Amino acid sequence: MKRVIVKYAVLCLIPVIALLGIVSAAEKKKKAAEPVKAKVIATNAVADTNHPEIPEGISCNDCHEMKLDASTTATQMWLYGDSPGRKAGEGVMPEEKLWQHIEKTIGGRKKDSKTFVLATSLNNVPLSTTAEFTLDPEKKMLYGFHEGGTEKLDHIRANPRVSLNWHKEFESFADYSCLQIRGRAELLDGKHPDFEKILVEFLPYEDGARVPPDATPEQREERLKQWRESLKRGSFFISRITIDQVTAACLDFTKEGYRRYQRWVRK
Ligand code: HEC
Repeated sequence: MKRVIVKYAVLCLIPVIALLGIVSAAEKKKKAAEPVKAKVIATNAVADTNHPEIPEGISCNDCHEMKLDASTTATQMWLYGDSPGRKAGEGVMPEEKLWQHIEKTIGGRKKDSKTFVLATSLNNVPLSTTAEFTLDPEKKMLYGFHEGGTEKLDHIRANPRVSLNWHKEFESFADYSCLQIRGRAELLDGKHPDFEKILVEFLPYEDGARVPPDATPEQREERLKQWRESLKRGSFFISRITIDQVTAACLDFTKEGYRRYQRWVRK
C-alpha cells in the first residue's frame, strides 16, 4: 500500500517539476529579451568580437547610454570651444534668442507648415522621408499628418527616436541656414483625445474638405466638421515629435557677433 502511495506521489510530482521547468525557461527568455543597462559608450564606439550577442532589432542605445559629442568632436569645438577667432565659450547665443531664430525659420501654422526631411531607423537601417510638419511654439513640438501603412510609421512604432532637417536651398557659403533636429515621435490615431485639436489649431487639413466657394460660414463649419470626423475614422495618424535638440547653422549669426553654429537643448 505504502509503495503504491509513493509511486503515485512520484508520478504526480513529475508534471509539477516539468511545469516548473517550463515556467523558469519562460522567465529566462523574458530576462534575455529585456535589454540590460550597460556602460556609457561614445557614439562612434564599436562592438568588438568579445561583445555579448546583439539580438536583431536591438540597437546600441537600447542597452548603452550613448555619450553624444565627446568634448573632442568638431561640432563641439564649433559650438563652444576654442575655434578660429573665438575663445572657448565666446559667441554662444542666449537660449531665448536662439529659440526665436528657430521659430522664425520653421514656425507658422496651417499652410505655413514647413517641409522637412525626416530620418527614422529600424534595425539599424535608416530611412529618410520628405514630410510636412507644423511647429507648436509653446510646447516646442512638431506635428505631421500621415496616411497609415507607410514604412516611416512602422519605423517610428519600433523606434521613436527621429531626426529632422530643414534647410534653405544652398546657394553659397555667404548665405546659408539649416536646422538639424533630434526628437522623439509618437503616433496619435483618430481616437486620441488630442487628434482633432491638433488638426484644428495647427494642420492644413481644410484643403481636402472641398468646401464650396459660396458656402456660408455655418455650411463651411459643418462641412469641415464632417471632414474631420471622416479623418478620425480613416487610417490617418498625427506624428507628434518632442524636440529635444536643435543645431542651427546660419551665417547671419555672425553679423551680431555670434558663432555660426548654435545649439538649443530641451531642459
Ligand atoms: C543587448 C544589450 C547590448 C547591446 C544591444 C549592445 N551592447 Fe555593447 N555591451 C553590452 C554589455 C552587457 C557589455 C559589457 C558590460 C558593460 O559594458 O556594461 C557591453 C560592452 C560594450 C563595450 C565595451 C564597454 C567598456 O567600456 O568596456 C562597447 C564599446 C560596446 N559594448 C559597444 C556597443 C555597440 C557599438 C553596440 C551597437 C552596435 C552595442 N554595444 C550594443 C550590452 C549591449
